[in-house]
Amino acid sequence: MCGIVAAVSYRNVVPTLLEGLRRLEYRGYDSCGVATVADGKLQRARSVARVHELAEQCEEDGVAGQTGIAHTRWATHGAPEVCNAHPLVSRDHVALVHNGIIENHEEIRRQLQDKGYVFTSQTDTEVIAHLVNDCYEDDLLKAVMKAVGFLKGSYAIAVIASDEPHRVIAARQGSPMVLGIGEGENLVASDAMAIGGVTDQIVYLSEGDVVDLKPDAWTVYAREGEDGAFMPVEREIRVVHAYAGAVELGPYRHFMQKEIFEQPRAVSDTLEGVAAISPTLFGGNAEDIFKQTKRLLFLACGTSYYAALTAKYWIEELAGIPCDVEIASEYRYRVSVPDPDTLVVTISQSGETADTLAALRHARDALGMQKTLTICNVATSAMVHESLLSYITRAGVEIGVASTKAFTTQLTALYLLALTLAKLNGRLNAAKEEEELKRLRHLPVAMSAVLALEPQVMAWAERFAVKQDALFLGRGVHYPIALEGALKLKEISYIHAEAYPAGELKHGPLALVDNTMPVVTVAPNDSLLEKLKSNMQEVRARGGELYVCADGDSVIDTVDGMHVIRLPENYGRLSPILHCVALQLLAYHTSVSKGTDVDKPRNLAKSVTVE
Ligand code: G6P
Repeated sequence: MCGIVAAVSYRNVVPTLLEGLRRLEYRGYDSCGVATVADGKLQRARSVARVHELAEQCEEDGVAGQTGIAHTRWATHGAPEVCNAHPLVSRDHVALVHNGIIENHEEIRRQLQDKGYVFTSQTDTEVIAHLVNDCYEDDLLKAVMKAVGFLKGSYAIAVIASDEPHRVIAARQGSPMVLGIGEGENLVASDAMAIGGVTDQIVYLSEGDVVDLKPDAWTVYAREGEDGAFMPVEREIRVVHAYAGAVELGPYRHFMQKEIFEQPRAVSDTLEGVAAISPTLFGGNAEDIFKQTKRLLFLACGTSYYAALTAKYWIEELAGIPCDVEIASEYRYRVSVPDPDTLVVTISQSGETADTLAALRHARDALGMQKTLTICNVATSAMVHESLLSYITRAGVEIGVASTKAFTTQLTALYLLALTLAKLNGRLNAAKEEEELKRLRHLPVAMSAVLALEPQVMAWAERFAVKQDALFLGRGVHYPIALEGALKLKEISYIHAEAYPAGELKHGPLALVDNTMPVVTVAPNDSLLEKLKSNMQEVRARGGELYVCADGDSVIDTVDGMHVIRLPENYGRLSPILHCVALQLLAYHTSVSKGTDVDKPRNLAKSVTVE
């Protein structure tokens, strides 16, 4: 999703801005651009290619300056074309970059057109650039403060003006933004990682903040008092070690591969400090809240949604508490029945996904469901901030758009939640707790054994690379894993993939099966294996080719047209965490064989901070 970096310094900021954009590339983007102020003039370079091509363009065109703004764009309003790439400029005077969506842009556009402003893009962003210019008298700060008062929607913006060469003004509402404090330079960015190479002194800006940045000074303003006037405010400076190493690829070909292989470490980090199953893992007052909990409502998007679906199986079985799982973008707009005794659990890698955040606020503010828990990979995110309880997964920065280690660490945290609720409900005795903890701690070793199957999965991937479609089947707690496997494959290899609970096969998808259709089956050695084998026969009888992820001890007679990979260990209830690793590898290697852009698949973004 869109990314912002801006800096004001005593040195040329363009290399810093470009490095920042490189660090934001993982979010996904379709165009990028930079603008600077130098000698009283704005300079700009924009591109629909990658950041390294933008860097070449800056070099060729001599784009430089001590004050600048930069952006990676993920198209919402207007196609991914150069004319729509940020920065957007108003009358050679104001240049602006923007994340978010301005809802009343059409109305403001009409008003500005009546005043003679000419629009050169289809973006909502250009409206803000002209609006700031229109509000400008002699002070960019005042102009931005006035302009944001007209905006409805979400924004994080950074603005420069040709006649204020040592100043950047930034503002945020509904879209994340951080301020970075350097030596003789100050910066803003969409996240701390973008500027981690320059400074570790970070201020997380609050909703509605406006910031005035100069090389040696910065001031944050917020609306204070009854008249809502902007006043200078204090904001806490935190030291954030922004994962400098995490953006290095090391020996891997792609970040996704690196992240798949980091999973044993990520799971083990997520379990660090878990000496016993206790509500305090989720926050100081979790015990009281959990004890009053009669039901859970999970809200999430994408891969995080599939983690929630998996958790439902675990929590209902282990703790005996009913769970509902909803796609956040649906929940936030549908009429549902509120229940104050329900624990609302949001799951999110980023903690900033617009739909999940809005669903959390809807549940809490509109429906009065005050008990909230977030399972999240980013401790400083809005979702964690806005929830009463939290569990921070320790996946580390995830760069690949297709989520992998965030998913398995979410599952780990959710299993801990299931065990905690089970214990509070008197369904987990000391011996069973010890056994469960032992199994969890052994999980990283078991995951490493699955990773060692990579060569076998690569052989499958070769065959998948020429396919148009694929079906994924699973049963019980492995049905969400089949869904996640299909999502991974379609996201990065662009092969159409669908997942079904295997029992549903004969109610529709079987019509799709012929000898061109690969059918991936998640077949651990559990109580549903015999049922699953019947479903596999239904596929074989129609000529479908079976790719079976089994356990070492799953009794499966291999026949022609059936390929079996055996995971070394049968891992009982935690088996989804192992089987999903095999499916991640399948998607990854299929994508590599096809030559698609693994880490930055077309049209997708890592962090979806707009609706
Ligand atoms: C995007 C990403 C997915 C992710 C989803 C939810 O679509 O590409 O990988 O699962 O957002 O993101 P979250 O940060 O809330 O888990």
